[in-house]
Amino acid sequence: MKLFLVVLFASVLLAECYRILPKRLGGNREKLAKLKHFIHSQKFQQSSKPQSLQSNVDIYGGGFYITNITIGTPPQQFLVLLDTTSSDLLIPDITIDLPGYNLTKFNSSASSTYQFIGNTTDYAGNGMLIGQDVVKLGGIGAQQITIPKTRFLQDSTVDFKDFYFGGISGILGLAFESLATTGGAPPLVNAINQGLLSQPIFTTYLIGKKNQTSSSSDFYPGGKITYGGLDPQNCGDVIAYQTLSSASYFQFTLSGISIGNYSNTKSYQTYIDVDFAIQGPSNLINAIANELGAKYTGSVSGGYYYSIDCNAKVPPLKLKIGSTTFSIDAKYLITAVNGYCVVNISILDNGGFGPSMILGQPFAQQYCTVFDLGNKRIGFAPMKNGQGI
Ligand SMILES: *[C@@H]1O[C@H](CO)[C@@H](O)[C@H](O)[C@H]1NC(C)=O
Ligand SMILES: *[C@@H]1O[C@H](CO)[C@@H](O)[C@H](O)[C@H]1NC(C)=O
Ligand SMILES: *[C@@H]1O[C@H](CO)[C@@H](O)[C@H](O)[C@H]1NC(C)=O
Ligand SMILES: *[C@@H]1O[C@H](CO)[C@@H](O)[C@H](O)[C@H]1NC(C)=O
Ligand SMILES: *[C@@H]1O[C@H](CO)[C@@H](O)[C@H](O)[C@H]1NC(C)=O
Ligand SMILES: *[C@@H]1O[C@H](CO)[C@@H](O)[C@H](O)[C@H]1NC(C)=O
Ligand SMILES: *[C@@H]1O[C@H](CO)[C@@H](O)[C@H](O)[C@H]1NC(C)=O
Repeated sequence: MKLFLVVLFASVLLAECYRILPKRLGGNREKLAKLKHFIHSQKFQQSSKPQSLQSNVDIYGGGFYITNITIGTPPQQFLVLLDTTSSDLLIPDITIDLPGYNLTKFNSSASSTYQFIGNTTDYAGNGMLIGQDVVKLGGIGAQQITIPKTRFLQDSTVDFKDFYFGGISGILGLAFESLATTGGAPPLVNAINQGLLSQPIFTTYLIGKKNQTSSSSDFYPGGKITYGGLDPQNCGDVIAYQTLSSASYFQFTLSGISIGNYSNTKSYQTYIDVDFAIQGPSNLINAIANELGAKYTGSVSGGYYYSIDCNAKVPPLKLKIGSTTFSIDAKYLITAVNGYCVVNISILDNGGFGPSMILGQPFAQQYCTVFDLGNKRIGFAPMKNGQGI
């Protein structure tokens, strides 16, 4: 694909040069070569100079990472949930019927660059539209990366209503194209295919600890996402890269887990999900809780909670990835909720379907993560001194 684009681009340029040059230069070969070179570099600067962009991320209510993007001409802005486990950009369509929701809706008639691609259905079998338009990463007034001809889903159902709260109006799927349902590349992959990014990666630097003592249902600064580059401002050097075991979402192998006196050398398939706790099979999660003296306090809206004495001495949770052991410190594992404390671990009940573990916020808030779409690997870096949480 990339090669094809380069070849196409080169031949377009060449054709253009031959059209312009004979008239102006009358066959002076030296000047012709110089001018060709000039036009070539100008073209690259104007239309597709690869770049990287750092965008602000907020954390909503302590649990959800969100950022701004725009769609269309003139741009319509959406506050979207960052999701490294799906691959579609989804936004509410103007026709969505969800009274009382604080939604930004996409009005395709108001965009001069919009193209209708077709109809599709969501997981529940309800109809949605596939559109194509200019998508810009970053919000209005901030620096942006412009990605022409990007496909997205226009949601007119009520099936995604659980994602639409606090003004959040959509999901930005950042995983690989194999999971996309639009018949086209996801926004970031599309940017890579068009040569718009300096590197085929994005990097997350995520902070913001849920603290339900302070009145929540608020936006807090949640860090940065860097499209197309590393984040040397907030992150140290990458400690290690791990080859993905599946490039659909960023799935990789965890080859051991230990805490205090508990140690387990089993392998688990896992992935990073920045909106969840550390999740795993019940025997593993219960063993960790046991070791910490944490007590199971019941299930609340699908999550399993373990409470712990706020003054308990909590040893680091150690995760082996490749030949590197990553430690998660107590302050990332324990969250204060209304005067008591919970361990940010939870049982994953997926009936044996998919990876058996999720490395959630405790991991994503201690380490910067480099999601390498181009080389199908994932890398972890320490956050710089004094940063994080
Ligand atoms: C998104 O844009 C709104 C309006 O311009 C702004 O108030 C908000 O801070 C932005 N959010 C992020 C995460 O950049
Ligand atoms: C911990 O886990 C819960 C449930 O998955 C989640 O809502 C919460 O935001 C997580 N993170 C922290 C820092 O408590
Ligand atoms: C959508 O945009 C069109 C064109 O600007 C406008 O005429 C129409 O009123 C808009 N629809 C809504 C519901 O805002
Ligand atoms: C797409 O679905 C809408 C109803 O949501 C229908 O009116 C329209 O005819 C469909 N278009 C195509 C091309 O199937
Ligand atoms: C609606 O969402 C926006 C963010 O897009 C937020 O700033 C605003 O406070 C929300 N309004 C209400 C009434 O929730
Ligand atoms: C939570 O917020 C309250 C009130 O702002 C503060 O006193 C407390 O120290 C915070 N707890 C943690 C663990 O950050
Ligand atoms: C680990 O085991 C030793 C010896 O059995 C015990 O003294 C120690 O308290 C244990 N540590 C933890 C964190 O449970």
